[in-house]
Amino acid sequence: MALTVVDHPLAGTMLTALRDASTPPPLFRLLAKRLSLVLALEATRTVPTAPRTVTTPLAEAEGTSIAAPMVAVPILRAGLGMLEAVTELFPEVPVGYIGLERDHATFQPSTYYSKLPPLEGSYVLLLDPMLATGGSAAAACTSLFAARPTRVTLLSVVAAPEGIERLAAEHPALEVVTAAVDERLNDAAYIVPGLGDFGDRLFGT
Ligand code: PRP
Ligand code: URA
Repeated sequence: MALTVVDHPLAGTMLTALRDASTPPPLFRLLAKRLSLVLALEATRTVPTAPRTVTTPLAEAEGTSIAAPMVAVPILRAGLGMLEAVTELFPEVPVGYIGLERDHATFQPSTYYSKLPPLEGSYVLLLDPMLATGGSAAAACTSLFAARPTRVTLLSVVAAPEGIERLAAEHPALEVVTAAVDERLNDAAYIVPGLGDFGDRLFGT
């Protein structure tokens, strides 16, 4: 499994503010979106392009256009905080949704919603900010890979070593782009130091 940890001072600065427990939901939402822009740029660095010639005011110029069929799939609910970044960068992108909720006692995810467009041959950007045990992302990947996409890339804000290890074992074809790999999970399967419950902080619940 390919893992990229984004190394950019601006990404680090935004992540630090997201971690800060005193950051209120409006700023948290803004920073989540801005950091997701950086993650999405990194995740799409190698998508196929096609040549495109345009005429500048002075001459013809050889250029490119993106030639990859892309699909964005946020995992509800926290992944919604990353979606606008992707739809701003790629306005034509179809969006599928997977609703997953982690049980507080067993940490097992259960699916409560799924609506996906055709994925065969597409480049899927799976959006889930927290990769903790990896159960939620692994369940989502099982559904996605069954639909025969060309590539699936998980965009994550913070990842735990435990989640990375699980995804590498269960979905070796997956690519992961994250802003940080943290130390560990605590007894409640929260990422330490992490940033707390992303969904609660995003939506003020
Ligand atoms: C959170 C988070 C991930 C999941 C990660 O979702 O958004 O989807 O936990 O944990 P895991 O790697 O151990 O599966 P949660 O179930 O809290 O739902 P929410 O997004 O609706 O808050
Ligand atoms: N989900 C979160 O929102 N935060 C964690 O640390 C782990 C799972």
